[in-house]
Amino acid sequence: MKKRMIRGTVLACVAAAAVTGCTTDKGASAEMSKGCEPSVVVKPFGKTKDGQLVQQYTLTGAGGVVMDVIDYGGKVVRLYTPDRSGAKTDITLGFNTVGGYETQDPYFGSLIGRFGNRIASGKFTLDGKTYTLPLNNTPGDMPCSLHGGDKGFNAYVWHSEPLSEGKSVGIKFTVTSPDGDQGYPGKLDVTVHYWLTPENVWRIEYEAVTDKATPVNLTQHLYFNFKGEAEGSILDHELTLFADRMTPVNKGLIPTGQIVPVKGTPFDFTTPWAIGARINADNEQLRFGGGYDHNWVLNNQSGKLAPAAALYEKTTGRYLEVWTSEPAIQFYCGNFLTDQVPSKKPGKNLCYRGGLALETQHSPDSPNQPSFPSTILRPGAVYKSVTEYRFGVK
Ligand code: BGC
Repeated sequence: MKKRMIRGTVLACVAAAAVTGCTTDKGASAEMSKGCEPSVVVKPFGKTKDGQLVQQYTLTGAGGVVMDVIDYGGKVVRLYTPDRSGAKTDITLGFNTVGGYETQDPYFGSLIGRFGNRIASGKFTLDGKTYTLPLNNTPGDMPCSLHGGDKGFNAYVWHSEPLSEGKSVGIKFTVTSPDGDQGYPGKLDVTVHYWLTPENVWRIEYEAVTDKATPVNLTQHLYFNFKGEAEGSILDHELTLFADRMTPVNKGLIPTGQIVPVKGTPFDFTTPWAIGARINADNEQLRFGGGYDHNWVLNNQSGKLAPAAALYEKTTGRYLEVWTSEPAIQFYCGNFLTDQVPSKKPGKNLCYRGGLALETQHSPDSPNQPSFPSTILRPGAVYKSVTEYRFGVK
């Protein structure tokens, strides 16, 4: 998408926004009417514990979707989409304060890097040299490095600028991760564009360059609950995955290296299935994941944008298609979520499996898995990846 940078803090149709109730003091409003002029409104969200200012961008899309996004981790804090009757609800998990994200955060709504998903034992060897990463996760008592380490891209305050192009609005995020950051080699310069289009598509464009060979696997960790944040579990959501194969894992959720067909197993989502329908099947993979927490190899391996997943919730009619240029997708159904996690709604907590993530990426542990597509970025090359979350109703 071509970009035009827009300057200043209050952009495009803030006047229209004020009149129609597109925004409120608490952020985007559920009552925002369809057909509002697209806008980007910037205001302070809070401060990190080390005193960095965190800004919030409210993207109001011409098609009716509204997103509150912060420059801390590029996190989507709130995401309002219309249901079948046009009523808007916040359908993503998050926190109202920076402190919420800093104290307990299952990567809600966040950009993830340098390496999304797990690297076994926090080690990989590249061009003859072994690198050691922080061990920040121990499923099945097997330590690994998860989602970029102790301070991944989710915990950076990114440089950010509002964008507008035609009827689309967006944000440009940039960050420089220094050589050796979290144990990874090379200075990595990363640019991520978020676009919200009049067709209610949230398009994410990732780019990165390095000065030394290094693994890169960027993704977005938004959690969905189409009935609304803190409105119960997602087990009744119907999922389709455009994937005939998946990568089985060991008890540490590290791929064994095999790529197996899903046909005839609870992992076959090639036609729509309620997430809860087979989740308690007698299946070792489901036991290892505590439910679905696995990586599917997408049928599209062309590197071009193609359908990866679809999600539908029949009471609200909300329907989503995920399109990506990536070769794989992690489907995680919130098995580690509990009712100890506060929601954004006052006095209300989340629940076990209260949200699900569809994370487009390369398969986990790729730097140690010679049979998986490479995640190594070399100097002179440009890492490029595109994912679209296309919101609608049925
Ligand atoms: C992983 C889960 C992990 C979660 C953290 C997901 O991407 O697949 O295993 O617990 O991230 O929020």
